[in-house]
Amino acid sequence: MRFYLTTPIYYVNATPTLGNAYTTAIGDMLVRHQRQRGADTFFLTGVDEHATKVWRVAEEQGLEAQEYADRIAVPWRELAPRINAEVDFFIRTSDDGHKRFVREFLQRIYDNGDIYQDVYAGLYCVGCEAFKTEDELTPDGLCPDHLVPPEWIEETNYFFRLSAYQARLLALYDERPDLVQPDFRYNEARSFIAGGLRDFSISRAGQPWGIPLPWDESQVAYVWADALVNYVSALTYARPGEDLRERYWPAAHHVLGKDILRFHCVYWPAMLLSAGYEPPQKLFVHGYLLLDDRKISKSAGNAIDPLDLVDVYGADALRYWMARAISFGHDGNASIEGIRERYENELANDLGNLLSRTTAMVAQYRGGSLRHGDAEPPLDLGALGADVAARLDRFDVTGALDAVWDGVRALNQYVTAEAPWQLAKDPADDARLDGVLYNLVDGLTALAVALAPFLPETAPRILAALNQPDDLAWDRVRNGVAEEVDGIEAAKPLFPRIELPSPA
Ligand code: MSP
Repeated sequence: MRFYLTTPIYYVNATPTLGNAYTTAIGDMLVRHQRQRGADTFFLTGVDEHATKVWRVAEEQGLEAQEYADRIAVPWRELAPRINAEVDFFIRTSDDGHKRFVREFLQRIYDNGDIYQDVYAGLYCVGCEAFKTEDELTPDGLCPDHLVPPEWIEETNYFFRLSAYQARLLALYDERPDLVQPDFRYNEARSFIAGGLRDFSISRAGQPWGIPLPWDESQVAYVWADALVNYVSALTYARPGEDLRERYWPAAHHVLGKDILRFHCVYWPAMLLSAGYEPPQKLFVHGYLLLDDRKISKSAGNAIDPLDLVDVYGADALRYWMARAISFGHDGNASIEGIRERYENELANDLGNLLSRTTAMVAQYRGGSLRHGDAEPPLDLGALGADVAARLDRFDVTGALDAVWDGVRALNQYVTAEAPWQLAKDPADDARLDGVLYNLVDGLTALAVALAPFLPETAPRILAALNQPDDLAWDRVRNGVAEEVDGIEAAKPLFPRIELPSPA
């Protein structure tokens, strides 16, 4: 089983926002989970450098575009590790390996007769890095996403014959009803294709920043014709001396925001078909994480630096909040205060106290020794594991975490219902007390394994506190997996109280 997952590559016209951290963190959860199930995984993220807006910011700062990109690539590269995302390769579109591959890829399309020269006279929104038609603008002629007027461009450049791919794309969509998920996004992409496709420019004549076309070095590749190709190019040079294409293409799962659906669900499969590649296995389109009802952006003034939140709450708490605060796949409004509430009520209280109480009771009533005893388990952990896995196969990250959390809450109710402190008073209840404590440790062990993709730092700490093996294999999400061990001690708080830094 191969599972190759990509995030969009992010524009480097500014430093990372919470919105970018969101896609990367969720992608990491999906990859970690598939790895627990034994899949051969590869996780790709990176940055998109050859945009007009990147070039303009560099100019404003008085820097050569490449020098600017080299500097800003540093915080972008740090983003994934800081949010506990384990990336297999971080791609920059200015990598030599990428530039070489893009030229080859576009040359193949050219050789297949799908590229021709023509005059482009029309509108371009630098914010979207996209050509626009009048009917895509607001009544005042503004880009609806950026609320600025698009620029007029008139130049001779090269066009990709997208119109020639309409029938093949429709056939692909009909053959593969799960190509694009969720279903409403599939319908959106399919009706766009069915509505008729127009050829689009794949090069820019008036801009020096970009990858020169192999057959006409006076032009550079249009930023999307360069950026989309990263999903294949990375496989050709991520591991020196190895070509990973055979291993991971077409096992690609692209995760992307709804703003870039058309590029990924229409342009990209057509470009792949033209260049002789199979389309990806899945395109998962998610909505926006809105903060206080607005999309996160510098211009809206709500562009929180995700690393500030990591500094206060830790990466696992941030990931937990992102996965649970809104339903992944849909737009959702969150508030930053929600992190604190979830940290205290759910992470520290539901989970942290459950571990503290459980370990303290084993230490106090049983001298730290865990024995099977005699009590029915309160939860069918195998069924819970199957449900969580099925949800993650559908990329229902929020539903999966909710299901695990129901398990955490059920164990808390079990403690209240069984009252081990009462059982400890009467030696006649010894076997039952052992059984109840075993069920708690066993449940926590299985739930820690199920939580590992979401809380990769915390899960091993739970297993360590329970003296259980640090083994995250998914078949451990079942009943009876905990080993009889000795030496369990009262655990330190998993999520200690935090003092908020005073406002500057
Ligand atoms: N460079 C292009 C993508 C090229 S992929 C071949 C681009 N970059 S971007 O920096 O604008 O960010 C793209 C992605 O960031 C979005 O598609 C989305 O995945 C993520 N998000 C940015 N803000 C977001 C939210 N507020 N909420 C959810 N995702 C967000 O487009």
